[in-house]
Amino acid sequence: MLCLLSAAVFMSGCGSVKAPEPKAEPLEVADESLIVVGVSQLGSESVWRTANSASIQRVFTKENGFFLNFKNARQKQENQIKAIRSFISQQVDYIIFSPVTEEGWDTVLLEAKEAGIPVILMDRMVKVEDESLYTAWVGSDFQEEGEKAGQWLADHLEKEARQEEEIHIVVLRGTEGSSSTIGRTKGFSRIAAAQENWKILEEGDGEFTTAKGKEVMENFLEKYEDIDVVVSQNDDMTFGALEAIEEAGKTVGTDGEIIMISFDAVKAALEMVEEGIINVDIECNPEQGEYIEEVIRKIEQGEEPDKLNYVSENVFTRENVSDFIDERIY
Ligand code: AHR
Repeated sequence: MLCLLSAAVFMSGCGSVKAPEPKAEPLEVADESLIVVGVSQLGSESVWRTANSASIQRVFTKENGFFLNFKNARQKQENQIKAIRSFISQQVDYIIFSPVTEEGWDTVLLEAKEAGIPVILMDRMVKVEDESLYTAWVGSDFQEEGEKAGQWLADHLEKEARQEEEIHIVVLRGTEGSSSTIGRTKGFSRIAAAQENWKILEEGDGEFTTAKGKEVMENFLEKYEDIDVVVSQNDDMTFGALEAIEEAGKTVGTDGEIIMISFDAVKAALEMVEEGIINVDIECNPEQGEYIEEVIRKIEQGEEPDKLNYVSENVFTRENVSDFIDERIY
C-alpha cells in the first residue's frame, strides 16, 4: 500500500515530472526528393470548403514534387491540434492549416516552431501573442468583403431612392469566433453604422451550413413581419434561407420583397445571381493551393515569403455575372 502511495506521489511529481515527449516517427516517404506537407483542413461544412480542399489536393501532388498528408478536423479545434501534433512527430517539411476559430493556438504553434517546421495558415487567421509562430498566411480580406456588401447595399438603396425608408436587416453569421465571421461582421457593421435608416433587427449563428441557415431564417421570419434585407455570410446558409423564405410565401431578389446578399460566389449561387434570386454575391476565393505553393517555393529557394498573402476577389451582380459562370469549377 505504502509502495503504491509513494509511486502515485512520485508520478504526480509536484509539477516537476515532465510529460514524456511524443516519440518522433518520421513519415516513410519512398521518394526523398518530395516535399512533405501536412494539411489540417477544418471541415467540410460548405461547397466553398470542398473547393478549398480540392485546390490543395490539385496542387500538392507527387507529380508536382509534394507528398501530401491531408486531415479533415470536422469542425473541432481539438482534432486540428491532434493533427498538427502528429505532423510534428512525423517531422513533415511544412504544416498548412485552416484554423476553425482564431483563439487557442499558441501552445501547439510553439511546438511546431520549436520543431523547426514552418506553419502556413490557410483561409482563416489565428490570434496569437507572438506572430513569429506562423511563417505566412494566405486568405481573404474578410473585413473588406463585409464592407463591399455594405457599400453595395448603400448604393443600391440610393439608386432605388429608399434613403428615407427604415430598412430592416437580418444577418446570418457563420461559425462563431472564426476570422470570416469576425471580419465580415465588422466590415458590414462599419458601413451600416453610417446609415441612419438601416436597422439590424437581429444576427443569428447559422454555422456556415444550409440546415442551420434555414433554421435561423425560419426563426427570423416568425419574429419579424417586415424583413427588407438578408445578409447571409455564405452561400450554403443562403440556400437554406431561400428555402425558408419560399416556404413563408415571401419573394426575393431583384424583383422581390427581400434583398439577398451572399458571400462566397460558388457556381450554384452565381446561377441564382443570374436569375435575379440573389442580388449580390461577394466572392471569397477558395483557390488558395497555388498561392501556398508559391510561399513554399520561395522558402525552398531561401527567400522570405510575404507574411500576409491576399487572394484576388470580385463582386457579382446580374450585370457582370454571366461572364464568370462558365469558368467556375466549384
Ligand atoms: O472561411 C471561409 C468561409 O468558410 C467561407 O465563406 C465559408 O463558406 C466557409 O465555410
